[in-house]
Amino acid sequence: MINGIRLGVNIDHVATLRQARRGVEPDPVAAAILAELAGADGITVHLREDRRHIQERDLRLLRPVVRRLNLEMAADDAIADIACSVLPDEATLVPEKRQELTTEGGLDLIANEAAVDRVMKKLKSAGIQVSLFIDPDGTQIEIAKALGADAIEIQTARYSEAKTKVCIDRELDELRESTRLARELGLHVHMGHGLNYFNVQGVAGILGVEELNIGHAIVSRAVLTGFFEAVKEMKRAIQQGNRQRSYN
Ligand code: PXP
Repeated sequence: MINGIRLGVNIDHVATLRQARRGVEPDPVAAAILAELAGADGITVHLREDRRHIQERDLRLLRPVVRRLNLEMAADDAIADIACSVLPDEATLVPEKRQELTTEGGLDLIANEAAVDRVMKKLKSAGIQVSLFIDPDGTQIEIAKALGADAIEIQTARYSEAKTKVCIDRELDELRESTRLARELGLHVHMGHGLNYFNVQGVAGILGVEELNIGHAIVSRAVLTGFFEAVKEMKRAIQQGNRQRSYN
């Protein structure tokens, strides 16, 4: 844990790369083990309805391997049944549309109150902690509390997409205010979406934030920091074959 803030590493995009060939590598379970060895406090995966990256098998393999597993999921009964059989430590309910590239915006708890309430009761009765992924909005936070959420994950897309100092500061103020309200209501506060090596400092400095969930930036960095070694290893493998060359 860094200064009291947990880092949840989202490994979805390791699986995205694997699914590009529908093969077996890179294996998200191996990535999860390396992430934990490097100091990750938890592993987050999103089992999407269209299974575009993480598969049910990944989830079942990850459960006994990782210390703290957070499952992002739609407020959907079929996925809730899977969650209740896998038993992640926490489930984070997120909005989900098939056409989107990634989760867009927070879950609207006014429009989806009935489904969230039903799925949340199912998850909580299985002993799974429930977090709701919502925008930094006072009304949404109050509904999250009224519904009985354990935590909220505040959507940081607007902050991470802000370009000017004025806009960045305004978004940080909103995140600070939302955190203050949520903590006063007794909710745990997580944040995530679009956080990277350059903007994470702003949210890590907000008092009351307990967990950051970060995926794309870490997987992107890993591809580049690992590239040099990967090419060297392939050169060695070719040279090894080349030394043994023959016609039969
Ligand atoms: N938190 C939630 C609820 C998400 O849906 C996502 C994206 O899957 C993340 C965090 C991680 O976002 P990013 O990949 O941009 O770091």
